[in-house]
Amino acid sequence: MLINDTKSVDKKCLQRLHDLHFTILNWNEEMKSRNDAIESEWKKPIKREKKGDEQKQDTEIEEKEKRTELLFRVIGMKETLKAKIKVELWGEKFKTKEQVISKDMKIGEFRHYVLTYENILKMIAIYLRIQSNTPIILMGETGCGKTSLIKCLAKVANVPLTAVDVHSGFGRQDLRNIVKACVDKWEDDEKKSEREREQWIFLDEINTSPDIGWLNELVCNHTLDGAKIPEEIKIIAACNPYRLRKWDIKDEDELFASDELSKYVYRVYPLCETMKEYVWFFGRLSEVDEQQYIVEMTNQVKNEIPFASHKEFETRKGEISKKIAIAQKFLRTHLKDKVIVSLRDVSKCLKIFVWLMKHYEKLNCENNNPWICRSLNIAIGLCYYFRLNIEKRLQLSQELSTNGLFVKLLEQEVHKLCKSFIIPRGIALNQGLKENLFVLFMCIITTTPIILVGKPGTSKTLSFQIVRDNLSHLKTEFEKN
Ligand SMILES: Nc1ncnc2c1ncn2[C@@H]1O[C@H](COP(=O)(O)OP(=O)(O)OP(=O)(O)O)[C@@H](O)[C@H]1O
Ligand SMILES: [Mg+2]
Repeated sequence: MLINDTKSVDKKCLQRLHDLHFTILNWNEEMKSRNDAIESEWKKPIKREKKGDEQKQDTEIEEKEKRTELLFRVIGMKETLKAKIKVELWGEKFKTKEQVISKDMKIGEFRHYVLTYENILKMIAIYLRIQSNTPIILMGETGCGKTSLIKCLAKVANVPLTAVDVHSGFGRQDLRNIVKACVDKWEDDEKKSEREREQWIFLDEINTSPDIGWLNELVCNHTLDGAKIPEEIKIIAACNPYRLRKWDIKDEDELFASDELSKYVYRVYPLCETMKEYVWFFGRLSEVDEQQYIVEMTNQVKNEIPFASHKEFETRKGEISKKIAIAQKFLRTHLKDKVIVSLRDVSKCLKIFVWLMKHYEKLNCENNNPWICRSLNIAIGLCYYFRLNIEKRLQLSQELSTNGLFVKLLEQEVHKLCKSFIIPRGIALNQGLKENLFVLFMCIITTTPIILVGKPGTSKTLSFQIVRDNLSHLKTEFEKN
């Protein structure tokens, strides 16, 4: 039960709810403790002894157990399945002494997923709606966690999920095949209970298809070609909003000139009238929610970096999450909805950071600046800084460090890397080319998708050719820098 402020509720009433085994969430207190947790994480670098560290891990596991249990209770999960699901969700740390891990188990599939009260409440609301057979279309900004939430929820509920990425070429026959496979499975499971026969079909990005009209039938009427689909096969959909941009496109003609759809934030089609009735607004993350995700996502990174860096990571993790949060907020404010910054950027930034931390030995990085700080600077540079124009870059640098040190350190990294490339004769290694080389090379080695956008003649192809030649001939001396 969610109560704004438990102090305003009669004590006897609260006691009675406790006796009835209600879990009571005090929203105001929860908000306060979240703010305090973020503040304390950012304010003081915490130095912990090993023992304290282990203790903290135990409390983290306990907290995650508590939250998962809460979800299990709402879902009505069988006791016998809980242990298996927890290990499949969060990993071996959640294994009980007696538990045997079988080969077919996918261990820790969602270990990066942060379970906050915010997404627990969303999961509960969505789950109840699915169970009551009410059509549901999740609508929200890109990267706010719709797809991850449904996938994680299906795992928590132990329901087989068929996730379908709808796109403009997605045809009626594709949909028929998907539904048929699910109905066949449902028929095979004839002897099982209703609950065990349950399956979810998740139509992601539903409004990217111009033929949205015929998806309407499946989502809203639970029929396909007029034939009823079994009740145990639940249909869930997700989409981005059909929303106009707030900024004036005329100022930014380079990218969007003469493109009709450029006035919309997402290239999607409007929902049909019936669908609109079933939209569930996922919205966007509030600042404090996002900060909490950043803090928790950063904390989880520790398990992936080499053990030797754990101590240093503990001292600096507050600084890491704070800097990512600053960059995230900066881009959102200064680029408005020209670009969307979401949890996807946080996850990308941390992925690059982890990659660099893992390759410390190989990269042989002797330098006055600790490698952990250099890794963070490079990651922030790639995910946020290089997306800005010169003026905004300086502003971001000021916010990230005193005296704009960030930009100087990043320039050093760019310079060091470019020095190790063999540049064909007659080519001037100017700032633009250097940046292209740096961004391209880093994105290729960390397998981060990248699209270089620029006016004609801004060395896009040339930089790609240089990186390709250097990599394919193993000429680069990057490892020595
Ligand atoms: N609870 C969470 N914990 C950790 N990371 C998360 C969480 N939710 C989302 N993310 C991260 O954010 C990224 C984007 O999430 P997701 O793909 O679910 O967004 P989406 O709302 O489906 O976006 P889109 O509209 O573009 O499909 C994921 O790759 C994941 O790394
Ligand atoms: Mg998605």
